Amino acid sequence: MNPIKGKRIVLGVTGSIAAYKAADLASKLAQNGALVDVILTENAEKFITPLTFQTLTGRKAHTSLWEGDAHVVHVGLGERADLLVIAPCTADTLAKLTHGLANNLLTVTALASRCPVLLVPAMDGAMFQNPATQANLETVRSRGVRIIGPVSGRMASGLLGPGRMLEPAEILGHIRLVLGENGPLRGQHILISAGGTQEALDPVRYLTNRSTGKQGFALAQAALDLGAKVSLVAGATAAILPTPAGAARFDVESADQMAEVVLQLAGEADALVMAAAVADFRAKAPSPHKIKKVETPPAIEIERTPDILSLVSEQRAQTGKPRVVVGFAAESQNLLENARDKLKRKRLSMVAVNDISAKDAGFAVDTNRLSLVTPEGVEQLPLMSKAEAAAAVMQRVTEMLRDPGPVTN
Ligand code: CTP
Repeated sequence: MNPIKGKRIVLGVTGSIAAYKAADLASKLAQNGALVDVILTENAEKFITPLTFQTLTGRKAHTSLWEGDAHVVHVGLGERADLLVIAPCTADTLAKLTHGLANNLLTVTALASRCPVLLVPAMDGAMFQNPATQANLETVRSRGVRIIGPVSGRMASGLLGPGRMLEPAEILGHIRLVLGENGPLRGQHILISAGGTQEALDPVRYLTNRSTGKQGFALAQAALDLGAKVSLVAGATAAILPTPAGAARFDVESADQMAEVVLQLAGEADALVMAAAVADFRAKAPSPHKIKKVETPPAIEIERTPDILSLVSEQRAQTGKPRVVVGFAAESQNLLENARDKLKRKRLSMVAVNDISAKDAGFAVDTNRLSLVTPEGVEQLPLMSKAEAAAAVMQRVTEMLRDPGPVTN
């Protein structure tokens, strides 16, 4: 489940032109089910109004240390918060936090809070690179404050350089990561493969399949939400998907490359979820040059690619790792029969099977209808979003990691 849901998040907004992006962040947090209390500094109000945030969050946005019962406001907000995010965070606010100054509602709240703190700096490149700012960043980091960004790019001054605030969607990912880190998979390394591989015919053409990688990337997010360390091996067809914040991503093209990376990472993973649609066949002898459009089309001899899951199972029989191995099956007929066969043949802990003949499940749609097949039985899940399906699979993986049963040979 999305760890942002139901959490109390204090969003501090300071005086940078990037303040307009904080409105988008506040909106995204509210849409994800957070209770968002916004605090604007006096300088932030020069760029954006409290009304904007009030409208987006449905809650009062705070500005002054002296509003209403001031003590209750700052101590209350800081004490109850699950997370304090300051986005954008100017060099000035950073300096105040470094030295424990408390001369506005935001810095008072920061000093009074005991929750994790996430700073998202935004400032001019020279200000960011100034040794004073760098030293301040180092100091707050050493106290456990997390800092994300800034990134290089064009700034309001027209100059290029480091200082641009991360985009709201990326900040949201990091917030999700921080709020999920103490989940039941904390300390577990989950390896996930996603997307389809491409098998070269010549330098410009390849064999591939319709996988988009959406289900695999959703699985990576679901594992992160439960606090896991995640390695995500992405096939070429998933190249355009954004990396979930916190996942270590490995991009591969062919089944061979995927096999190499997966086998290496599997040696240190607690669970492998193989959601990738690995091409089953490849050209026996790919042409080093572009195949020309000749009158008689050439015959292309094909051969099998390595079966990665079977190789992992062999390795697992020797090393005991990963303790849990989950395969995916895309079937168009005899779903459960084929899944049970795959479970046995590839020596898996579980097979998640989906019916690709249905229009609302499988490739390139946002929903899936999975059946989870284990040696103990079948759990049929209803039609749900790929995010929900991923959460259900990772829930089962969490249970299996608690009690993985014997490694079968
Ligand atoms: N898989 C794999 N290596 C391959 C092909 C598939 O590890 N070369 C994995 C997939 O990632 C998936 C599972 O095996 O988790 C099922 O893949 P699928 O292609 O459906 O199974 P096959 O055993 O190849 O059987 P078939 O295609 O005939 O149904």
